[in-house]
Amino acid sequence: MTSAEVRTRFLAFFEKRGHAILPSSPLVPENDPTVLFNTAGMQPLVPYLMGRPHPQGERLANVQKCVRTGDIDDIGDNRHLTFFEMLGNWSLGNYFKAEAITWSYELLTSKTEGFGLDPKRLYVTVFAGDQENNVPRDDEAARAWESVGIPKHRIYFKDASANWWPAVKGKDTWTGPTGPCSEMFYDVTEEGLGDLTPTEYNKADDEGKVIEIWNDVFMEFEKKDGKIVGKLAKKNVDTGSGLERVAAILQNKTNIFENDVFAPIMAIATTLASDLRRQRIISDHIRTAIFLISDGVLPANTDQGYVLRRIIRRMVFNTDAKKLDRANVEALVGAVVEKLGGFYTNVADQRANIVDVIAQEAEKFAKALDQGLKEFEKLVTVGKGVDGKSVFDLYQSHGFPLELTQELARLRGIDVDVEGARNEFKKHQDLSRAGAEQKFKGGLGDTSEMSLKYHTATHLLHQALRQVLGTTVSQKGSNITPERLRFDFTHGAKMTDDEKKRVEDIVNANIQAKLPVHRVELPKAEAEKTGALHFFGDKYGDVVSVYYIGESLDGAISKEFCGGPHVENTGTLGTFKIQKEEAVSAGVRRIKAVLS
Ligand code: ALA
Repeated sequence: MTSAEVRTRFLAFFEKRGHAILPSSPLVPENDPTVLFNTAGMQPLVPYLMGRPHPQGERLANVQKCVRTGDIDDIGDNRHLTFFEMLGNWSLGNYFKAEAITWSYELLTSKTEGFGLDPKRLYVTVFAGDQENNVPRDDEAARAWESVGIPKHRIYFKDASANWWPAVKGKDTWTGPTGPCSEMFYDVTEEGLGDLTPTEYNKADDEGKVIEIWNDVFMEFEKKDGKIVGKLAKKNVDTGSGLERVAAILQNKTNIFENDVFAPIMAIATTLASDLRRQRIISDHIRTAIFLISDGVLPANTDQGYVLRRIIRRMVFNTDAKKLDRANVEALVGAVVEKLGGFYTNVADQRANIVDVIAQEAEKFAKALDQGLKEFEKLVTVGKGVDGKSVFDLYQSHGFPLELTQELARLRGIDVDVEGARNEFKKHQDLSRAGAEQKFKGGLGDTSEMSLKYHTATHLLHQALRQVLGTTVSQKGSNITPERLRFDFTHGAKMTDDEKKRVEDIVNANIQAKLPVHRVELPKAEAEKTGALHFFGDKYGDVVSVYYIGESLDGAISKEFCGGPHVENTGTLGTFKIQKEEAVSAGVRRIKAVLS
């Protein structure tokens, strides 16, 4: 079964069982400064898992693009990725453990409607209970597994470190819906492992002989700042399954890099790097880079842009030649677009731009590498090991990651003070943390009064920009904290002082006019007819929520597809002021503005 068929089968299976199919959200969460990327299908759904009614109902499913950089050091084994597609289904206070488990089992094993996997190769884990939080062993889930036919001895009870969904991690804390989970593992060995004792099973897991293919989370609790603070209003189900893993297994591969999506990428990577681990890193990273760029991220020194820069540089660094020319970039991008451009049309549409961004960054890195090498040679001629401070300087001035310095040193047979280097990096992190803390204060689903005000001010700003600069202005990104708003938009030139003043005046006039802010839910086609602005191509469902500012939808000064929340009246916003207007990249400007 091809990856495309896995996607289609999964969605059809849950559609038939009453689930509305949602499109994938973009990789960069909107208006949520606590996290850099969507790391799971549930993340864009947090407000609904916390209790807000979803316009599409109580049963949802989708395929969500995810980026997880926490696993970056594991890339190169048979199953980890920094970018992956997550298959997920959700119950918002609708069904619970028995149905979720029955359907997981049916989808995995049914030959007609599902993936037709061999039930004898399945193992499951269930939450063992937790005295600290006073949550009992999940016998309900274990019973559900037994009733679909999983033998008792293949159900393993695990503690919270393995079988608890910890919510979504912001900068330092975990916040949002949380609960125990039950995971499904599949035996990918040729010979078949058969029954395993818990100790044997753990070993097989460590060795990648059994691979996690699905996770059912039973969300009953709410977490704030890392602590469970109570029960959710409704019991939800959140599931996640890695498409790349399922596809590999269905294609009888013991590792994901041999599935139908990865094979063509690996074929190119094989010509760029001689070592299997490096080939896999290149194959993984190219997809992450492509999808980040297609969702509007550009290489930069902070936030998402920094991750993209690091991913591209790491990819280049893992080639034998330590460089990636344009033809190679084109070939790699082509191999990805060929397989995924049909489903993720924005990737296909932006193909040329994606090649440009990656090729340019690769070239920059090659130059930095050249200069850094000279610097490095100076260190070497001194004749001693490379100390921590020098490692950090190489990183800061030339973008050398620690691993690059280590490799260069290894080639010359000299030592690197890795511990000292780590301390230097840490020192730097501590210094930048003070600033970061401010930034991460606004929470996931942050509904503080100031954030609501900034959200509404963002819509007013967007409208005013279009009035002053023209309707070619379109939103490229938005980021809100309780301290300020940040808005990225397309515009070819620096704004003049006069333009900025006019924009401020329009926003302030609309604040003084005390306009009501309303929300309506409409079928997508109808919502489009109202002229409401919407810029994220593929992310909306069949029924969308539109916020408009003004007495009526027809006469509204601003209409946007938006999940909210907003203030009820613009009169509460105060005074709007643009603090900064600057370039982010060619053709994209950024405004930072405050309310006082
Ligand atoms: N949110 C759960 C996961 O990502 C399903 O594993």
